[in-house]
Amino acid sequence: MKLPVEDDFNDVLGKAQKGQGISTEVLAETTGLSEESIRKARRGEFEPSDVAILGQALGLNVEALLAIGRNEWYPEEQKAIEGFELIATRFYDMYVNAYLISDPATRETIAFDTGTDPEPILESLFKRGLTLKTLFVTHSHGDHIEGADLILEKTGASAVISRIEPEVPFATEKIDEGYVARIGSLSVEMFNTPGHTKGGSTFLVTGLSRTVALVGDAIFAGSMGGANVSYEQSLAGLTKILSLPDDTVIASGHGPLTTVGQEKEMNCFYRVG
Ligand SMILES: [Fe+2]
Repeated sequence: MKLPVEDDFNDVLGKAQKGQGISTEVLAETTGLSEESIRKARRGEFEPSDVAILGQALGLNVEALLAIGRNEWYPEEQKAIEGFELIATRFYDMYVNAYLISDPATRETIAFDTGTDPEPILESLFKRGLTLKTLFVTHSHGDHIEGADLILEKTGASAVISRIEPEVPFATEKIDEGYVARIGSLSVEMFNTPGHTKGGSTFLVTGLSRTVALVGDAIFAGSMGGANVSYEQSLAGLTKILSLPDDTVIASGHGPLTTVGQEKEMNCFYRVG
């Protein structure tokens, strides 16, 4: 299934404006645009010159923003990675991603989030005869952890989450930045990427044919999750992830897979310097 890109240009504008706490009135004054044209852009009416002005004023990557607005950009499709599976579940009119990663040799498996329905994960584990060891939770939002209790109960796996993330309704081990787990030949390292939530985490998995960063909502292809806690923290988290090697696969909580290299060019929130 080709997952749609999660955010359109107007979602990006909305997140940038809200994140920086700039009123439409002030944005109109700084840009010389009318409040009505700003509202139109935020509703999704694509007027390239207005969008470029707004993108500039909000510190966004204007070329990336225009490319998304013109529907000209979609991340390059990633070749299948042995031992890596993306499981997308519906959430209203969009999708949420969960991931299963297995050591190809031992078949020991780890999961990252659950999405909105535990069944596809349980089915995939069962069909492929995989043993789930650990569920890693990127953040506590309900659309990422639905049915986690059922998965833990049925598989006997344990769950881990950042110590600073709000509580979730199932038993977890609390972990800190720098935590490393080894599962067969795989290694998982956690680092803090807050901003969308207080203790949002990124898990870097090495040992597959590609290094994969499971980022939750810290990055979407071309965009990022809303900066509910802090816009500065969100930008810092995004920059931290994009300091990984260019060929690192980014596995987001919503939308298609992408890579560090592509996001450095086409993420609207990433600005060099
Ligand atoms: Fe979220």
